[in-house]
Amino acid sequence: MASLTIRNLDEDIKQNLRERAAQNGHSMEEEMRLILASLDQASEALSPKRSVASVPSLSPFSSEVLEGKRILLIISGGIAAYKSLDLIRRLRERGAHVRPIMTEAAQEFITPLSVGALTADHVYTDFFSREDEQDVGHIRLARECDMIVVAPATANLMAKMAHGRADDLASTVLLATDKPVLIAPAMNPHMWHNKATQRNAKTLSADGIYFVGPESGEMAESGEAGKGRLSETFTIISKMLEILDDRPKPLLGRTAIVTSGPTHEPIDPVRYIANRSSGKQGHAIAAALAELGASVKLISGPVNIPDPVGVDVVKIECAEEMLDTALQLLPCDIAVMVAAVADWRVAGAAGEKIKKKKGQSVPTFDLVENPDILKTVGHNKKRPSLVVGFAAETQNLIDNATAKLNKKGADMIVANDVSPETGIMGGDRNRVRIVAHDGVDKWPDLSKEEVAMRLAKLVAQKLSELSV
Ligand code: C5P
Repeated sequence: MASLTIRNLDEDIKQNLRERAAQNGHSMEEEMRLILASLDQASEALSPKRSVASVPSLSPFSSEVLEGKRILLIISGGIAAYKSLDLIRRLRERGAHVRPIMTEAAQEFITPLSVGALTADHVYTDFFSREDEQDVGHIRLARECDMIVVAPATANLMAKMAHGRADDLASTVLLATDKPVLIAPAMNPHMWHNKATQRNAKTLSADGIYFVGPESGEMAESGEAGKGRLSETFTIISKMLEILDDRPKPLLGRTAIVTSGPTHEPIDPVRYIANRSSGKQGHAIAAALAELGASVKLISGPVNIPDPVGVDVVKIECAEEMLDTALQLLPCDIAVMVAAVADWRVAGAAGEKIKKKKGQSVPTFDLVENPDILKTVGHNKKRPSLVVGFAAETQNLIDNATAKLNKKGADMIVANDVSPETGIMGGDRNRVRIVAHDGVDKWPDLSKEEVAMRLAKLVAQKLSELSV
């Protein structure tokens, strides 16, 4: 459940809360708890149910970009307005300050009290409020921020923006701003596809307004489906990160392939041989390379974690599919092979489910060796400029990793001790050594995201040394 301190609330909101609490016979804390609980329930009930794996994950570095950023959030009317509450919470969790403006129509769907409670800032609603104008004023609202996000953006607000109209606070601020503006449209599919809206969207794009969505799917109105849904919170934040992130991108223009996760080697159509790899380290590396500007294709075995944002994911099941995909994606600049590829597969997997028959002996299987993807890529005529492999070992870490470096044609091997007591396999942390032709570097105990970011920076440095 969301939490916040009443002390930090804006005076107007505190007063509003005080009155509401008195009316309902609650303390202010109780009233606030009830408001927050109802917001959680509403967003639970209204959000489409998704499996864990289908929810995209945000870059682990989103807080680095959002920390201290001032976001002016304009909420316009529409059933999707409730989702802006979740957006506020996720932005604030990452250290951003959110200053809200609500249009009149938005206030029909969610209350300024909820928005104020979550932003802990004054909610700007009235263009002609003398108090607001004296205090901040629409020009300052438009300028004192790092970006403006309109979520949801209605067809009406888009039309006003496209025509430069300024007849309420939201449209006036949008006309007066010199900051980047991101809009997340949400409307009925007929309204979105209407020629006028499409014309306005084109005009706004040409004017340099950023868009996220709308998405296709079921609408809140029963029986309606099509394009017009507000993008999910994390998709909106990912787009914001893209716009706000001004950190250096040393891998811009570089292409990378990353393998991740386990492989499933079929025994028959329902059974397979697998291992305990979670894919966390490989996925984090793909995200970190993309973060530094690389165009990344992630070849992922079956995993139960979200797809990293900003990365193209190719999903495969077995080692042979992983190899075919990797070879199709050559040439590229960087290959990082993190997948825990099964060493063997069943020779001639059964086409039908193998039945248990009374009185018959248990089946036996012949295993054949799987192709070594790292080795094939490392010795390929289209070999990437930089090839990185992993060595998960339970003994003789450095010796085994050094042997792999040479045998597999890699430039670097990231070696880790995966003895069960380390908790690395499937866990969130990793302790690695970087084994290269010029020596061994021992890294401290780090989160898998930190290992990924350090490795991505090292890859960028090695590539720049190669191109000198
Ligand atoms: O030989 P071993 O499995 O210990 O080597 C580990 C490294 O080789 C990892 O980078 C892994 O992704 C890669 N590998 C591969 N194809 C295989 C086996 C391992 O790409 N069949």
